[in-house]
Amino acid sequence: MSSPTKAPLSGTPLLRTPRLLLRGLRPSDAPAVAEGSGDIRVAQFLTDVPTPYPVEMAAQWIMRRIERGAIGRGPTLAITLVDEGPYGHTLGTVALRIHKRDQRAELGYWLCADAWGQGIATEATHALTTWGFGTGLAKIYARVIAGNAASVRVLTKIGMRQEGLLRNHLRKGNKLLDVLEFGVLASEWPPRDK
Ligand SMILES: CC(C)(COP(=O)(O)OP(=O)(O)OC[C@H]1O[C@@H](n2cnc3c(N)ncnc32)[C@H](O)[C@@H]1OP(=O)(O)O)[C@@H](O)C(=O)NCCC(=O)NCCS
Repeated sequence: MSSPTKAPLSGTPLLRTPRLLLRGLRPSDAPAVAEGSGDIRVAQFLTDVPTPYPVEMAAQWIMRRIERGAIGRGPTLAITLVDEGPYGHTLGTVALRIHKRDQRAELGYWLCADAWGQGIATEATHALTTWGFGTGLAKIYARVIAGNAASVRVLTKIGMRQEGLLRNHLRKGNKLLDVLEFGVLASEWPPRDK
């Protein structure tokens, strides 16, 4: 049986890691979100992002995410380099979608292709997962389109394990794709040998 909630599941944190500053999204992030996540190399692994991604649509997405954070349903944070200060360029986003009743949250993230391969997503997802467990969540999980090896690696590196395979679960274009489910429990955090 999980322990009861320790603190209200709300708010949009400002998180610092050795290299990153993770801060709440702003309307001015729309061009970076449109360009970065609308890139087909990124969008192919996201559920509902078009290529090209119009800036106006990205601006609406940002407003929905700001509202979601404000009502305690989970933060969406811009991933920036700490060296660039509070107005650094947005390289990607990392988010939790909180299901309060069940004390669980779904982790979602993307990073612009120019910044891949430097451990940035691992650092960002680890930091937000730690924050999430600090708020009293009992479980954090993620869903990955089968074949997204980099994302599977990120989740494995932060200590999640595969829990399931959902066959033909997601439509992208005219194809139904398999989806992998990963998760980690509060009782398993932080992972011992990571
Ligand atoms: C998934 C994503 C966020 C990873 O970002 P990143 O900052 O490059 O990730 P990291 O550098 O922290 O870690 C990536 C790991 O995957 C590995 N990797 C990358 N491509 C790989 C591939 N094709 N096959 C196997 N491993 C791969 C890297 O070597 C690295 O592992 P390592 O540290 O053991 O060497 C980025 O690729 C992305 O935005 N992809 C598109 C959107 C997406 O998939 N979002 C997640 C949806 S669930």
